[in-house]
Amino acid sequence: MPVSKHHRLVIVSNRLPFSAKVENGSLHFGAVSGGLATGLSSFLGSYKEHFPKQQNHLWVGWPGATIDEQYHNQLRKQALEKHNAYPVFLSEHDMENFYQGFCNSTIWPLFHYFPSSTIYNDDYWDQYVKVNELFADTLAGILGKGDVVWMQDYHLMLLPHLLRKRQPRAEIGFFLHIPFPSFEMFRLLPLRWRRAILEGLLGADLIGFHTHEYTHHFLQSVLRTLGHDHSMGQISLPNRVVKADTFPMGIDYKRFVDACSAKETEDEKLKLKQALGDAKTILSVDRLDYSKGILHRLLGYEALLENYPQLRGKVVLTMVVVPSRIGVNEYEHMKNQVEEAVGRINGKFGSVVWTPVIYQFKALAHHPLIALYSIADVALVTPLRDGMNLIAKEYVACRTEGTGVLILSEMAGAAKELGEAIIINPNDRREIADALSEALAMPKDEQVRRNTIMRDRLRRYDVTRWASDFLTGLNATKEVQERLNAKLLDSNALAALRTAYRKAANRLIFLDYDGTLTPLMRHPDLASPSQDTLSLLRTLTRDPKNTVIIISGRNRATLSAWLDGIPIGLVAEHGIWRKEKGGEWESLGHGASNWKEQLFPIIEQYADRLPGALVEEKEYSLVWHYRMANPDQAQLLAAELTDRLLSFAANNDVQVLRGNKVIEVRPAAVNKGVAARHWLVRGVSDFVLAIGDDWTDEDMFAALPEDAFSIRVGVTNTRARYNVKDVNEVAELLSGLAG
Ligand code: UDP
Ligand code: G6P
Repeated sequence: MPVSKHHRLVIVSNRLPFSAKVENGSLHFGAVSGGLATGLSSFLGSYKEHFPKQQNHLWVGWPGATIDEQYHNQLRKQALEKHNAYPVFLSEHDMENFYQGFCNSTIWPLFHYFPSSTIYNDDYWDQYVKVNELFADTLAGILGKGDVVWMQDYHLMLLPHLLRKRQPRAEIGFFLHIPFPSFEMFRLLPLRWRRAILEGLLGADLIGFHTHEYTHHFLQSVLRTLGHDHSMGQISLPNRVVKADTFPMGIDYKRFVDACSAKETEDEKLKLKQALGDAKTILSVDRLDYSKGILHRLLGYEALLENYPQLRGKVVLTMVVVPSRIGVNEYEHMKNQVEEAVGRINGKFGSVVWTPVIYQFKALAHHPLIALYSIADVALVTPLRDGMNLIAKEYVACRTEGTGVLILSEMAGAAKELGEAIIINPNDRREIADALSEALAMPKDEQVRRNTIMRDRLRRYDVTRWASDFLTGLNATKEVQERLNAKLLDSNALAALRTAYRKAANRLIFLDYDGTLTPLMRHPDLASPSQDTLSLLRTLTRDPKNTVIIISGRNRATLSAWLDGIPIGLVAEHGIWRKEKGGEWESLGHGASNWKEQLFPIIEQYADRLPGALVEEKEYSLVWHYRMANPDQAQLLAAELTDRLLSFAANNDVQVLRGNKVIEVRPAAVNKGVAARHWLVRGVSDFVLAIGDDWTDEDMFAALPEDAFSIRVGVTNTRARYNVKDVNEVAELLSGLAG
């Protein structure tokens, strides 16, 4: 288990796993429904059981109601004693604009693909920011050293960044329990909200999602909105790496199975059987929510009774609808629609002796819910969108004899794991009706066959496994960061570098240009050197002990034009051209370049197909630039182009290199390492410094003597001895030396 005994696991969610209220002057605690609270509570229950030596956990969140201030201290005390919880108090106004507003009238509908129900309101947004700030302040006040913070869900998407600002070294995980929508949906949010949400999430070290699709959507939105690319889900920010990954949430399998044979469950089952008689039972349980497809389910059931009249009187739909988010308009409206539909179906098909739909609008306690799962012949789960859906998993777990049929919407995250269920599209009422008829007729051995596979999976990947996988992943990301941070040029390393510089009599300084001396620009022509950069280079070269060489991928004309008059050595086109201080350009064994004629039209064709892409022709190389293009389209075309170029390269003396939003074809056997050796082999220098920012500079780092100071710009894996975060640090370092 990754949480060492020095650490406290601090869970943060909008809703605590209990609700508190004041009645007759005293505090009362009640249960709550919803996947996040039930899932995580189970995990924490078994976390104690499985890891008795671990230190405590703490759950920080809203206690489910507005509590009068005079009871705050009392609630704080009791929440801690009884539930290991720390309440965050929110006012009525917070609840209106934050919870009912931005959370449940903006994010919830949009992320569940209900754009027309989404409300865009600045007051909601402002309150969302404020409440996230309040959570950040609260956390900053209670977190101790070594605590691991695990934030939950869409209410708190700004929190990782807000806490990171207050505590830069905090260990922060974030899990989103709802879908992350495709970019086309996400982009409906105003750009400033969209950016803040993504930047907010990127404050975490690890961001988890239920399915690969959601992870992919998130990474795509990060790329399209903020321009950060990723490699296997790892996003390299300028000064940190962040990982996005998939962790499908499981249930507390054992707890559900054990509860099936509990006396309380048996009693409930008996009552249910008496009430339902011989009728086959179809179960439907959800919070009242338009994302759950409750109306669609009723329409499907209605179609069953219409199309399969022989089933009338022989089936019952037991529908439990759990009150939720009272006060949000869409929810109130929906309750009426559901109740109307239930009334219509019962009126149309029912009789004195048979009620087709038994409807309850209330929350169930644990054992009555388990009893329902245990007796239901079919579970009908038809969300229009659902991040995961634990009800489906709980139903299968509670079928301890292996019988029972799950009908599951393909729009639920759970469908990715429960492929043996009858998978339906909830928008097709006929498909639902046919699935129900198939389920009711399914032979027992087929039911058992399907459920056995699903039950095995649910047992193995249970909620404890889910949480420990996440926390292990969080730990691993922290380790990657630490490995990279260990190479950051800190004050000790800087002091050593300065001392070596001072003592040296003959210094060699290799500097890459783009991304090292100047920031990367959208168009390569925009990156001409600033006055500061030019004067820095002049100061450096004024010292007769220094030999400064700009070692770049740029063509020689650009380097000559931009750096004219400064007494430095130049290397152009990654080593194809060299110019000594005060000398002329010399070309270095690049072989024939007639391949360029063959390749140019192919690369140009790819530039034509991708708006924003361009071809740069250098004397001995060709470059396809795509920094300004739509990144998704560019990724596809870049992969295709690389493929074509590689097959060309196999029969020609050229190499294909993929760099930072560029693909370059150039002569084989020429690189910055070979170029740097020209100066290194003279063996007269007693100090070597090389700074670069991308993979082409790695050849240069590899060519350096062991005691050289090599520095890569950006926090990323490198052969260089050190990393610095950005071009500003390079400028500071060089001016420090020059001064
Ligand atoms: N649940 C409950 N009482 C009820 C009905 C449901 O505690 O009366 C629990 C159920 O056991 C499940 C959770 O609420 O763990 C619902 O989770 P799900 O992922 O299906 O939906 P969500 O409510 O999170 O959208
Ligand atoms: C979903 C959300 C949870 C939420 C739950 C109940 O499962 O992902 O974050 O707690 O619904 O909704 P509520 O608004 O009552 O907290």
